[in-house]
Amino acid sequence: MTFAVLRALHALIGDALDDVERIYAEAGNSSHNSRTSTPGTPSTASTARSPTHKSSNSAQGHAYASPPPSPLISSYFQSQPSSQDRSTTPLSTLDFPSLDLPFDPNSPSENLTSHPVVISAVNRIVAAAGQMSATVQIPFLTLCDAGMGFHLPSCLRLLEASHTVEILREAGPDGLHVKLIAEKNGVDKNKLAHILRLLATHHILREVSPNVFANNRLSSILDTKKPFEKLMRNPETKYSDTNGVSAFFGMCTDELFKSAGFLTETYFLSPQKHKNGREPTRAPFNHAFGCEGVGFFGWLEGEGIDGKQVNGPGRGVDLIPGVVIPGNGSINHKRGTSSIGKAADMYSGKGSPTNKPRDPLANPNRFRLERFGKAMTGTASWEVPGAVLNGFDWQSLPKGSVIVDVGGGIGSTSMLLAHAYSDGRDISSDEDVPGLKFIIQDREVVVDMGEKAWKDKCPELVDSGVARFQVHDFFLPQPVKNAAVFLLRVVLHDWPDAFAQRILLRLREAAMPDTKLLIADFVLPLACADNFGSAQDKDETGLTEIQGAETMLAPAPLLPNLGKASANGYWMDMTMQCMFNGQERTLREIVSLAHSAGWKVTKVTKAPGSLFGHIVAIPIEIPIQRRARAGSGSAFFDIPNSNYMGGSAVDPHDEALLDDGFTFVRGSSSEIWWWNSRGSEKTKYQCLDPTADEAFDPTCCWIGQEEETIPPFSGSPISFSCSTQYFFSSSTSTACTTLSTEASNISRSAKPNLFITATFLVACPISTIAISPHSGKFLTPEQTRIIGESFQPG
Ligand SMILES: C[S@@+](CC[C@H](N)C(=O)[O-])C[C@H]1O[C@@H](n2cnc3c(N)ncnc32)[C@H](O)[C@@H]1O
Repeated sequence: MTFAVLRALHALIGDALDDVERIYAEAGNSSHNSRTSTPGTPSTASTARSPTHKSSNSAQGHAYASPPPSPLISSYFQSQPSSQDRSTTPLSTLDFPSLDLPFDPNSPSENLTSHPVVISAVNRIVAAAGQMSATVQIPFLTLCDAGMGFHLPSCLRLLEASHTVEILREAGPDGLHVKLIAEKNGVDKNKLAHILRLLATHHILREVSPNVFANNRLSSILDTKKPFEKLMRNPETKYSDTNGVSAFFGMCTDELFKSAGFLTETYFLSPQKHKNGREPTRAPFNHAFGCEGVGFFGWLEGEGIDGKQVNGPGRGVDLIPGVVIPGNGSINHKRGTSSIGKAADMYSGKGSPTNKPRDPLANPNRFRLERFGKAMTGTASWEVPGAVLNGFDWQSLPKGSVIVDVGGGIGSTSMLLAHAYSDGRDISSDEDVPGLKFIIQDREVVVDMGEKAWKDKCPELVDSGVARFQVHDFFLPQPVKNAAVFLLRVVLHDWPDAFAQRILLRLREAAMPDTKLLIADFVLPLACADNFGSAQDKDETGLTEIQGAETMLAPAPLLPNLGKASANGYWMDMTMQCMFNGQERTLREIVSLAHSAGWKVTKVTKAPGSLFGHIVAIPIEIPIQRRARAGSGSAFFDIPNSNYMGGSAVDPHDEALLDDGFTFVRGSSSEIWWWNSRGSEKTKYQCLDPTADEAFDPTCCWIGQEEETIPPFSGSPISFSCSTQYFFSSSTSTACTTLSTEASNISRSAKPNLFITATFLVACPISTIAISPHSGKFLTPEQTRIIGESFQPG
């Protein structure tokens, strides 16, 4: 039976190769001579083998789930030869790209790798080869691959960070002896030889003769194309004006790789394991980098880092040669001090971190911050080129429609869309051009980078008003109320469900009846056969009515999800877990998440051979349990447990409630309160280094904490004697203002809209009050505990 399976896999590979070869032969036959030969590509290979397997049409029929195309893929769809380019090139001159030669995005041969038939066939080859290898290899050795494969990202990082790829590009096809490479980048030659050999053994690089290495098709996609000497002088500029692929792998092999090492510590060995999976600031990343209580994005902006370098086991950016990091390098023992401020700011990197450098140049993590921005550009390769253009019917939108790119980064997707659907004028005069307008929203620091990028690349789109950037925290009420489309590209996967739901609620709240939501994210297939949309699936979320949701299973004996060929979607899934406690989602999960926030998924579009999906949803009624109104404001906000509302008492020992629910004080639309009833704690709070240079904005959110006990509010008028009040506001969303007013009595009768709920942490004698009147902000008990820790005297 096993032999039969192996033979079937072998046959699948043969058939798939036939498909690929046929496409290359057809293209070779119809292309012009000058366009067909890949520089340096031997032209013999394609003639070497006439198909021994019966050519199959299976590729056409297998547009099943599979990974995104290879990075830097040049678009077959976008660069078909024009008719005058076609001539009488003999058959078989077009070979598949060689593994031994550097990647050439402009070669017709590379171009053809994005042909749908080729993508489909390549997926079957990769899936079958992976399954064969797992079947025939000695199990211990396969597990060695899995158990010691961590050396691969480790060596890849050194290759990238030491600019070895650029050195090898300058050396040319004959390669360079490791001694000379070492002389240039300063890595010990013996160590380097072994590191490069491990990579060559995995086909990333080539050892052309003993200790002489050269770039190949894989290593060369890391090439920034910059002169090595320049990179050594200014390593911090390495990723500027690049396609972002080297930035992406730099990030993968640095903070992502290190974070993954702490998965088990976080989810299994930690005494807090039952909580760790649900908080974005308690992910494996936080363990790795010693910054519990700080979100990844805030950390990129310098939160949770004190002094010159990133600390904790995951440290390391300061070791990149030549990257100058100011400061003194001490560990930030005040972990979580930056958490004082709006709760969501802890996750988003905005707000009031007391130790967050305001000057971007003073951010010890700025190299990583900028690398992240470029890395996101590099992820364009996740999609088949231009897939977003087909992921939604943009032409159907009324002229001048507003697209809001929420968490849009530096606006790469909007830029693509603006070029396609706007003609560079405020209102398009061309009938066929919908003249769409774009608002790209993100955190302030990212908006600054985005504005700069657009001014460099397409100033006309900014000057004409076609596109503009807006600083906006997507946990706050959405300011744009006339959006035709809210676009969320690779945003939801960064967040655990409760947070993703909140982002969606904000958009739903601002939606017009005909507003559409477009989610662009991986859509993970199951590893087994799936009966998606069958009668069993029929429920109120409308799983059966989604256009394009049918799953195409891979042919047996392959895994239904194409196994190894789909690995990238699952790598990304784990990456999201490790960094944010986020996740990639199956279509069922996406549909249910959207539904819980008042959106109904109607359509999903995936390019053939891609796991990356464009999911369209329309507004429906917001589920009643999400519909709480705060004060007189119109904002909806999430109330995980309605018992927390209106001052009902909360069982302080109910761990589940503390875990899942967020206690808060609800103020009136103009007043929100936070207090400390013990004057003795005043000094501690002054550690916040309050800046009183901004006006108090009472509509913003609040958090607070109280040591000892505040009796749970029981429903009767209650009075607090407060020696200190602190108001935290963030009208500008960039900083928090802290005001202190001495003693006042707050009584419920005096403040009729003030409801108070107090909870008590079992682990720590701190009661928590997180306040969310207008903004729906909240503070989890864990965060309060962290704040408490950070203010321990001494
Ligand atoms: C994975 S990136 C995706 C960027 C962009 N959509 C793209 O496709 O390249 C997630 C983005 O969310 C932004 N972000 C994180 N927290 C945010 C918040 N609270 N409000 C707005 N944007 C936020 C990050 O700055 C980052 O640009």
